Amino acid sequence: MKNGKEIKAPLVEAMLKYKQNPMTGFHIPGHNRGEGVYPDFRNLIGFDTLKIDTTDEFDNLGTLHPETGAIKEAQKTASETFNSKKTFFVTGGSTVANLALAFAYTNPNMEVLIGRNCHRSVLTGLIISGAKVNWVIPKKHKDWAIFGNIEPADIEEKLKHNRNIKLVWITNPTYEGVVSDVKKIAEICKRYKASLIVDEAHGSLWNFSSKLPKSALNLGADAVVHSLHKTGGAMTQSSMLHITKNSAFEEEKITHALKLLHTTSPSLLLLASLDAARANLSGASGKRMLENAVRNAEYFRSEAKKIKKLHIFNEENNDVTKIFIKMDNLTGLELEKILEDEFKIEIESASDEGILILSNIGGKKEEFEYLLNALKKISKKEHPHKSKKVKIMPLIDPEIVMNLREAYFAPKEYIDKKDAVGRISSEVVALCPPGISVLLPGEIIKKEHLPYLFSYEKIEVIKE
Ligand SMILES: Cc1ncc(COP(=O)(O)O)c(C=O)c1O
Repeated sequence: MKNGKEIKAPLVEAMLKYKQNPMTGFHIPGHNRGEGVYPDFRNLIGFDTLKIDTTDEFDNLGTLHPETGAIKEAQKTASETFNSKKTFFVTGGSTVANLALAFAYTNPNMEVLIGRNCHRSVLTGLIISGAKVNWVIPKKHKDWAIFGNIEPADIEEKLKHNRNIKLVWITNPTYEGVVSDVKKIAEICKRYKASLIVDEAHGSLWNFSSKLPKSALNLGADAVVHSLHKTGGAMTQSSMLHITKNSAFEEEKITHALKLLHTTSPSLLLLASLDAARANLSGASGKRMLENAVRNAEYFRSEAKKIKKLHIFNEENNDVTKIFIKMDNLTGLELEKILEDEFKIEIESASDEGILILSNIGGKKEEFEYLLNALKKISKKEHPHKSKKVKIMPLIDPEIVMNLREAYFAPKEYIDKKDAVGRISSEVVALCPPGISVLLPGEIIKKEHLPYLFSYEKIEVIKE
């Protein structure tokens, strides 16, 4: 409360005041509230947007590092909403959040346990920190060519056999919405005195609906990452990093790491968009939007079941808003292309097997009806030759023989792909999305990898 008025979105409100009471500025950004911008671009994004395109040193909006003013208030409000001990706004996406977590809470003498389906930013973080990495392999859904959940028993097995592991880091949900039992995993971690980070990049809506899985924020994790820009309604690149209420992590460490890794000119537009997304989701209109997203997803799932040749990936406890489907005789990439070319429909992603559809808070039922009609039409046509030209995710058991950092910085050479089998990869090969590595530094390249390296002629390997 301020002057008897409830502040719903502190940073959004401060930005509004700033826009209404501009000062005469002699500072960055040099476009001076849009005046110095290429006119076509100004028309494209709107003068109004450029008027508030500023960074955090000016106009009494506060600073991000250290947190002050309206930015501090917005982070505090987010922390209350997400029930965290401390919430940080991150303008470099969950990529920077993951880098910062690795930088803050791992070090070269530490053993960590990482899900093999982690995003490549986790790998980058561990390359920077030099921690000794152990791997846990998630369940594989070979028919769908995707990774599934991580079994708590597999985590326990690893922790039991290596008592030096002090941190477990998992991705939950997977890109396709598969959910692991984080509560059980957190209990196991506590028993073995290991901390738990959950990369919940794709689960930022979970806090706001009882129809979605439970957030790791309330299940015993020490830190949680949310890409609010992916599904939460914030602008692209805007994420949050939460240190949970009962976290064993020292807050100062992540504050320092973020300060070192963050841009020194964070975009106020992005920061305000995080404040706005949080305010929206915790208010009545966001609640309605999310209810619609869930309803649309349920509607699509029940109707899609009736379409011949169409299959819906269905795991117990899945995030209902992430819908992975496939059609007989078509690869996911073929189905994606037909939807784009013939129906002007753009889906979230496609793989060799299927396509991923998101039911978003900005989505409309009519759009799902249109998509269902398109799928019906496609299913009625003959598609006799399934051509498997592109492969996205090998689900082979990785043979990892060197530590990430050691392999990344070892002397290397570039060799022809055809000569690479049996050699040790020294680079992160990962298609985005989903950003899960096909090969990581220190992994033996196998014959089975080759079809997944379709865009590579030469591969970077450890010099022999
Ligand atoms: C699980 C996971 N973590 C982190 C990231 C990185 O997120 P961002 O794009 O916000 O940097 C992604 C991106 O796809 C992801 O899938």
